[in-house]
Amino acid sequence: MDPLHDPDDEALLDPRQARDLAGLVETARLASAVVRYGLRTEVGAATVVLNQDNPLPAANHACALWGTLAEVAGTLLQLEQVFAEAGRSEAVVFASPTTVAEIEGIADDAGWRAVEELVALLHRTRQDVRGWARPAEDRDLPGIVDLIADDAGLSDEGERRLLRNLGHRIDEPRSVLRVVDDQDADRIAGFAQGFVERGVGLVEQVVVRPGRRRRGIGGELVADVVDELRERGALLVAAHSEEGGTAERFAEACGFEVVYGVTAYARRIDDLL
Ligand SMILES: CC(C)(COP(=O)(O)OP(=O)(O)OC[C@H]1O[C@@H](n2cnc3c(N)ncnc32)[C@H](O)[C@@H]1OP(=O)(O)O)[C@@H](O)C(=O)NCCC(=O)NCCS
Repeated sequence: MDPLHDPDDEALLDPRQARDLAGLVETARLASAVVRYGLRTEVGAATVVLNQDNPLPAANHACALWGTLAEVAGTLLQLEQVFAEAGRSEAVVFASPTTVAEIEGIADDAGWRAVEELVALLHRTRQDVRGWARPAEDRDLPGIVDLIADDAGLSDEGERRLLRNLGHRIDEPRSVLRVVDDQDADRIAGFAQGFVERGVGLVEQVVVRPGRRRRGIGGELVADVVDELRERGALLVAAHSEEGGTAERFAEACGFEVVYGVTAYARRIDDLL
């Protein structure tokens, strides 16, 4: 039996391995979310990051809720307050193997909902790059924001914040921002970004213009970002995607394999604002 794998599900890492790996991946995710004016802090039994300049949930979340059931339940209550004070309309927790296994019941009792089932994936098989991608430049940023905003449904204010955040990332040595130009128009066809922190690389986002999909652009962007992350010292490269959908199939086609599950829990806090 492969000691790295869970005997109940050969496709997944065993629980201890998964917890160690998730700890590394989450440390890198938190470091990325902080760029440039975000804040990482401990709240009760959780680690939290809040970044005003980045409207996406990945930059405003809690993770690693580890402690007794009472501590974790108390932490969820504290988190509602912390996210409300930061002006967020929703508090978000990502529960991976670094979070107590009983989180489902505790979250349910505290009025939090499981809003997304995700998977973490590790890059295992290198794909060749064809040279279509190039580093993003300042002039590309509005086009990148449009692409992401359409995909994520951002407000005008969200778009302004994201533009500011991408402006910080373009000058950040741990960030990798790549675009592929549209052959038929003066605009970009796709964008991907990654981040590397202490040997751990992340492919954080890939978006291809709807009319340009299924032509290999997304795969090319990922292959290019992965190569660049390894060039900058990544010993492992991880990504997250929704479980079981297009994004997971795409990630697998890009050479990633599922290693553990992640559940996103959310709590609306408009009433506390
Ligand atoms: C996911 C996404 C980036 C893929 O971009 P793309 O340019 O179409 O990807 P590629 O053409 O390189 O596809 C590579 C492989 O991924 C798989 N794939 C991609 N889209 C797929 C789909 N809709 N259904 C099933 N498999 C799919 C296929 O195996 C494909 O190879 P094939 O076309 O030879 O069958 C694009 O659909 C997108 O922008 N989606 C919205 C944002 C998103 O979900 N991002 C990913 C998570 S961050």
